[in-house]
Amino acid sequence: MTERGWKTVWITGASSGIGQELAKLMDGAADHVVISARSVNKLEALSERSRAIASFPLDVTDTEAVSDCVKTIEVTAGPIDLAVLNAGAWALMDAQHLELEAVRTGIEVNYMGVMNAIDALIPPMIERRRGHIAIVASVAGYRGLPRSIAYGPTKAALNNLAEILRLELEPHGITISVINPGFVDTPMTQNNPFPMPSIVSAEEAAKQILEGLKRRRFEIAFPRGFIMVMKLMQLMPLGLYFWLVRKIVMRGKT
Ligand SMILES: NC(=O)c1ccc[n+]([C@@H]2O[C@H](COP(=O)([O-])OP(=O)(O)OC[C@H]3O[C@@H](n4cnc5c(N)ncnc54)[C@H](OP(=O)(O)O)[C@@H]3O)[C@@H](O)[C@H]2O)c1
Repeated sequence: MTERGWKTVWITGASSGIGQELAKLMDGAADHVVISARSVNKLEALSERSRAIASFPLDVTDTEAVSDCVKTIEVTAGPIDLAVLNAGAWALMDAQHLELEAVRTGIEVNYMGVMNAIDALIPPMIERRRGHIAIVASVAGYRGLPRSIAYGPTKAALNNLAEILRLELEPHGITISVINPGFVDTPMTQNNPFPMPSIVSAEEAAKQILEGLKRRRFEIAFPRGFIMVMKLMQLMPLGLYFWLVRKIVMRGKT
């Protein structure tokens, strides 16, 4: 990190929502902010705001493209100090109406997209004995929630992955963070047909994330009150948890 903050930051999924707002905030906190996603026009519109922001269009499911992206950033903008692996896909789905293609997309984008990035990031970071990798998961990964079959399991996997990475990579000087937002008002949640308690704006989410990253926290989770409830549910015995979710979230549906 420099006096201004980080030297080079890479954010995936920066064409909208949380990633886009975080890129705007990072503009004041890093010398170089490289933004990736598939929507070239949206990335370019964002990069036109500031000379510090550079766009690198990318599909995170393409292993080779991710590897090339990391190598190119390191050559053009300098060693990546912080990578925020934020690209994600959500699909609402009932177990009775499985859509395997959407399940596969969830795994490919949310989990393999992160794996592709860390595969490319770990060797140079180990060599430098420094670097910070932040993985955007979700509170939906804390426990099984109805209708999140194509999403929740991938976010649970990311929480598990972050713990493994922290244990194995911290001795090599690499910082690991896992970001678990509650509901955030972004294109991802815009069509959700259910109530979203304690929803926060993407700007607020980005502020909380930036603050947590500056403090190098392992888990960055928000908003606080909602997280406390979700953490309590995580600790509940199975029987009580199933009863409560059926009663409150599913309202008696079986
Ligand atoms: N919104 C919430 O309530 C909430 C809560 C908890 C966690 N999260 C997590 O926060 C992260 C950001 O979500 P958001 O709410 O900001 O949603 P969003 O506005 O829909 O942003 C998703 C981002 O991921 C990118 N993306 C999707 N597939 C991609 C791919 N194959 N390759 C590269 N980029 C891809 C999208 O860009 P392109 O389409 O241009 O590629 C977009 O920039 C996600 O990981 C999400 O799971 C969100």
